Amino acid sequence: MKIAFAGTGYINKIHARAAQNCGADLVAVINHKPETMAAFAKDFGIPRQYETVESMLKDGEVDALVVSTPNYLHASQTIAALKAGVHVMVEKPMAMNAAEAEKMCGAADKSGAALMVAHCWRFDPDVLWLKEQSKKLGKIIRTKGYGVHVRWGPSGWFTQKELGGGGAMADMGIHALDTVRFLLGDPRPVSVYAKIGTYYGDFDVDDTGVIIVNWDNGVTSYIESGWWQPHADGLAAATQLYGTGGFGQLFPTRVEVQKGKAERGEILESGLEFPRKEHAPQSLYDDQLRYFMECIEKHEKPVPGGMEGWVNMKVVDAAYRSANSGQVERVE
Ligand SMILES: NC(=O)c1ccc[n+]([C@@H]2O[C@H](COP(=O)([O-])OP(=O)(O)OC[C@H]3O[C@@H](n4cnc5c(N)ncnc54)[C@H](O)[C@@H]3O)[C@@H](O)[C@H]2O)c1
Repeated sequence: MKIAFAGTGYINKIHARAAQNCGADLVAVINHKPETMAAFAKDFGIPRQYETVESMLKDGEVDALVVSTPNYLHASQTIAALKAGVHVMVEKPMAMNAAEAEKMCGAADKSGAALMVAHCWRFDPDVLWLKEQSKKLGKIIRTKGYGVHVRWGPSGWFTQKELGGGGAMADMGIHALDTVRFLLGDPRPVSVYAKIGTYYGDFDVDDTGVIIVNWDNGVTSYIESGWWQPHADGLAAATQLYGTGGFGQLFPTRVEVQKGKAERGEILESGLEFPRKEHAPQSLYDDQLRYFMECIEKHEKPVPGGMEGWVNMKVVDAAYRSANSGQVERVE
């Protein structure tokens, strides 16, 4: 499978390594800066270099494109590739807002090429284990999740609204949001209440957020997003599930299944199942890219696809609306 890479920054180096580990042909790279592009091409043995996705598409001979550029470029680069019949894996957040995400989904439907959104935590072994175990927890009533950087945050385009779309909510909160949605079986969001602000940096996007999402299955999710926070109760995407029959959590990952009545039940099962060395290891991204390649080979629609990414963008948009209005905002 011939794969191209738009962007040569932090995460596309990981995706390029994943492509090598999965036995793909790394055929082209796109970046507007020739020097960084040349270094990336050399490091990964990539023969073709382009300044735009469009010029790469003109030459053809590419099956799939991995889009890991600043968020404002995701929609245009993804749509151009899909129109040319090239499969796309685009980084999260898939777009600047839900309106762009909708257009991307429309382009995928028209082209028949696959659109995957790199919500990487869906491929994490702890997350997959907890999803399986969550069946033992009775009815899930509420959840808590974290998308927070402690004592650090990104700089550059990430902190500029016109290039990033949003701040910590769109960048980190979306990890917690997608992870809990996956664990709950992809319910539909009904409404969102959020308090979002900027307290730790001199930029025009948010660095602090508290978000409450109500889902159509009756579950309520509390999510914290942040950059430069003094503390976080959980690592990125860490999620807790509170059920009528027990409790489950990620990082450290464990469940407590209760015997007997919930209020006085003994714990039937408890344990730290996955001692981890690294929070987001290369293997997570290898598994993600392998799945993308398998979907292409089998002509299957990837999940997380455009639809999952779009729903997440609707929640992000509603959270920003709620922070502005001070009201609970419904999600269409
Ligand atoms: N899933 C994850 O774990 C994870 C981690 C980090 C970043 N991300 C996401 O990946 C995306 C990229 O983040 P990053 O940390 O790699 O950012 P980065 O700033 O390190 O890299 C962005 C790259 O895009 C390039 N670029 C800018 N303008 C371009 C253009 N016009 N054409 C082609 N390339 C252009 C930059 O030169 C740079 O190489 C973001 O959407 C981010 O949210 C996801």
